[in-house]
Formats: sequence, C-alpha cells, structure tokens
Amino acid sequence: MAETLILPETANRREIYESLLPQLQALTDGEPDVTANLANISAALKEAFGFFWVGFYLKKEEQLVLGPFQGPIACTRIHFGKGVCGTSYARKETILVPDVEQFPGHIACSSLSKSEVVVPVFDRNGEVAMVLDVDSDQLNDFSEVDVQQLEKVAALITSLLPH
Ligand code: SME
Repeated sequence: MAETLILPETANRREIYESLLPQLQALTDGEPDVTANLANISAALKEAFGFFWVGFYLKKEEQLVLGPFQGPIACTRIHFGKGVCGTSYARKETILVPDVEQFPGHIACSSLSKSEVVVPVFDRNGEVAMVLDVDSDQLNDFSEVDVQQLEKVAALITSLLPH
C-alpha cells in the first residue's frame, strides 16, 4: 500500500482506531521483519493520535529492552515487575494509569508524562513477547476505548510474530 495514512477528521478516538486498524493490517501484511512492523505501528499511532510517547519494550532474556518508538528518548531497560511496563509484563494484563503519580513504582522516563496505558503483546505460545506503552502529557487521557483498541493492535502484532 502507499505509505500514507488516511485518517478521519474527527476527535472521536474510536472512529480513528477503527480507521487505523485495517491500515495497520495492510501496512504490515506480508512483511516478515518484526522491527520494521513495530516501527511503523508506533509511527502510525503517534501520527493518528499525537500521543506524547508510543513504543515497545521487548522481552530480552530477563529484562524488557527499549524497542521501536516515537517520542522523546526513554529508559532503555526495565526489570520484570517494575514500573507500569514491568508490571503489565508480569501480570500479563493491560494496565491503564490515569495519573502516573498514583501508580506505585511508576518509572518516569519523562516528567511530562501524566497518564499511560501499557498492553502486553503475546507470542503465539501465549507468553508475553513485548509490551506496547502509550504515554500522554494529559492526566486521565485514556479510557476503555484505548484499552480495547490497543489490545486489537497487540493481537495484530501477535499474528505478525514468527511461529
Ligand atoms: N512509564 C513506564 C516507563 C517507560 S516510559 O514511560 C517510556 C513505566 O513505568 O514502566
């Protein structure tokens, strides 16, 4: 496909996600390189929503290591169980944080980040291969719509991972 996103002119996030998802599918279809796909997915989410930071932390041996992202430079390594990302990894579940200052152990890569959502991405064996972290510079910027739709993005990524 042409490498241009076509996005609806609306502030309704659900509509934007619903437009974006098939475009992410098309953008990654047939491309076996995981890094390339994660890079384009993080860029597309950033472009579509203008989030402060969007990116991936990949499970590598016994840590999460920074992967493709869009936004300011970020912490490189996160231990399992630490921060929102490490907690999402350990619990194998999505975590929505309306106010990062209220999340015990939140890792502040940037003091500008105010709320975030972290979604685990499973491999084909049901193990967490990485987490998708989306940060906002606004308090309480995420809802169940983001959770549901970002989990769809995570499911798409699972389908792109090698067997
Ligand atoms: N806030 C995350 C760390 C990653 S950065 O925000 C990009 C956390 O607590 O895990």
